Amino acid sequence: MQELTPKDISLQLRQIYKTGSWARRMMTYNRPYICPFELLISAVPQGSEVLDIGCGDGLFLNILCQLQKISTGLGFDTNSVSIATAQNAKTHIKNSQGLEFIEWPTDQQWPKGEFEVVSMIDVLHHISLPNKKHAIEEAARCVKPGGLFLFKDIGVQPRWRAFFNSLHDFILTGEVVTYTAITKVVRWAEANGMQEIERTTINRFWYGHEMVLFSKKSQP
Ligand SMILES: C[S@@+](CC[C@H](N)C(=O)[O-])C[C@H]1O[C@@H](n2cnc3c(N)ncnc32)[C@H](O)[C@@H]1O
Repeated sequence: MQELTPKDISLQLRQIYKTGSWARRMMTYNRPYICPFELLISAVPQGSEVLDIGCGDGLFLNILCQLQKISTGLGFDTNSVSIATAQNAKTHIKNSQGLEFIEWPTDQQWPKGEFEVVSMIDVLHHISLPNKKHAIEEAARCVKPGGLFLFKDIGVQPRWRAFFNSLHDFILTGEVVTYTAITKVVRWAEANGMQEIERTTINRFWYGHEMVLFSKKSQP
């Protein structure tokens, strides 16, 4: 598949996210210009079963399904409004019966089962400091041997980029977020059977993104 542009993805999102407030829809349509979804999408092998941790309004899974890239998708999030938005958007996609979105309380163990691809996009900085390591351990646990873990978050460095992203989150959600050095995330993931295969830094406007693709070692 030819790599999509942020504009292509934004146009696809306009076809899926048709309801909800104007402000929420504008944030959805503009998110691909801020967050490198085209790289995240291209990292997912055709026909995968995907678990999206902290799926928010379901953009990643809904787009993957709209592009017919995945066989199944399970998204979960602690936010009930986001889950309702994701579910509503799904109804505008043909053949979306393999997609499921569920609300999941923060501190419980995450869904059982293993997936070919597990994604965690811009979620770790929202998780409280004592729970971050556990979140990566749980994500690693959910990956099938030989499967992929797709991690993306805002980088710690340079600090001015992290500061402006914090401001963005504070204005939108009132939340004070905390970042984790990507080297620490890699260490936690590698201690849980993952192997780093690719690391990319992408700057868009003032947002500094760190993306790491891991594969889970096959059991001997
Ligand atoms: C910036 S949004 C990203 C949403 C989505 N991944 C995306 O890229 O469009 C962060 C999301 O993480 C969710 N979140 C925060 N802590 C969580 C947790 N412990 N478990 C699941 N979701 C969580 C929030 O509710 C929010 O929807």
